[in-house]
Amino acid sequence: GMTIKATKTLGVLVPDITNPFFSQFSQGIEEVASRAGFIPLIYNVGTQDTQSTNYLQELVRRTVDGFIIAAPNVGLDIIHQYLDQNKVPYLLMDQSASDNGDRIIAGDFEGGQKATQYLLDHHHRKVAVILPRQHSNNIDKRLKGYQKAMINAGITVDSDWLIEHELTKKGGYEAAAEVIESGVSAVFAINDEMAIGLYRGLQERGKRVPEDISVIGYDNIEWCQYVQPQLTTIEQPIIELGRVATGLLLNRLKTPDAKPQTIKMATKLVERASVIDYQ
Ligand code: RIB
Repeated sequence: GMTIKATKTLGVLVPDITNPFFSQFSQGIEEVASRAGFIPLIYNVGTQDTQSTNYLQELVRRTVDGFIIAAPNVGLDIIHQYLDQNKVPYLLMDQSASDNGDRIIAGDFEGGQKATQYLLDHHHRKVAVILPRQHSNNIDKRLKGYQKAMINAGITVDSDWLIEHELTKKGGYEAAAEVIESGVSAVFAINDEMAIGLYRGLQERGKRVPEDISVIGYDNIEWCQYVQPQLTTIEQPIIELGRVATGLLLNRLKTPDAKPQTIKMATKLVERASVIDYQ
């Protein structure tokens, strides 16, 4: 039989509940968890490390059965101290821990490459990427995908084309000045939230998307269909990521000694109206 503890709760830590990515992700978690009789406790840990440490400590004390940690700012040292040492199972998204746990590979490298290649295919050569200063593992892979595509096209990436701001709409908004300054004709925004913020920043500075600057995003949150122009982006199977993460964690709770599993997910390009050919 099952040897799991009786609380039947899962702790879920996300970095930003205002980002619809994490609402959809949580929806996937909730679906699979509730079907198995578990209740997910979802926490917005923000970007403060102390806050996430408190949540972890407190949830472990209250004997949460397992964790899904999708907040890359929850440090591996803290995870080791509170989870590994107390033998609490967990699944990490967006950062790779010890290589011996269950893992989801979300195709970030290919996704970054695909986004950039799409801009190159539209004859853009000066392509900026807007991304956060702190590169979590997934963001770093998207960046590597961008670099790979640029190298393959024989383009040397100018350091002014890597534009760092926070991973929010505000960050994207603030990137607009540097984007214009850099003289690029296209931008790969590392997530849709940044792309949407960038839209406004560009617009306020009299630049039109896509006539003056083409923009591609990443995630395919629902907003992409409601902004003007509709945002071309790289789709992640967001709800499915939540489902799969939960499935892996629940399996781990049932059979703690099973061989670690790695599940690969794929991204896909969603063409809309924010990218046009460079003339
Ligand atoms: O939009 C937020 C980002 O956080 C997503 O791209 C997702 O991969 C997560 O890392």
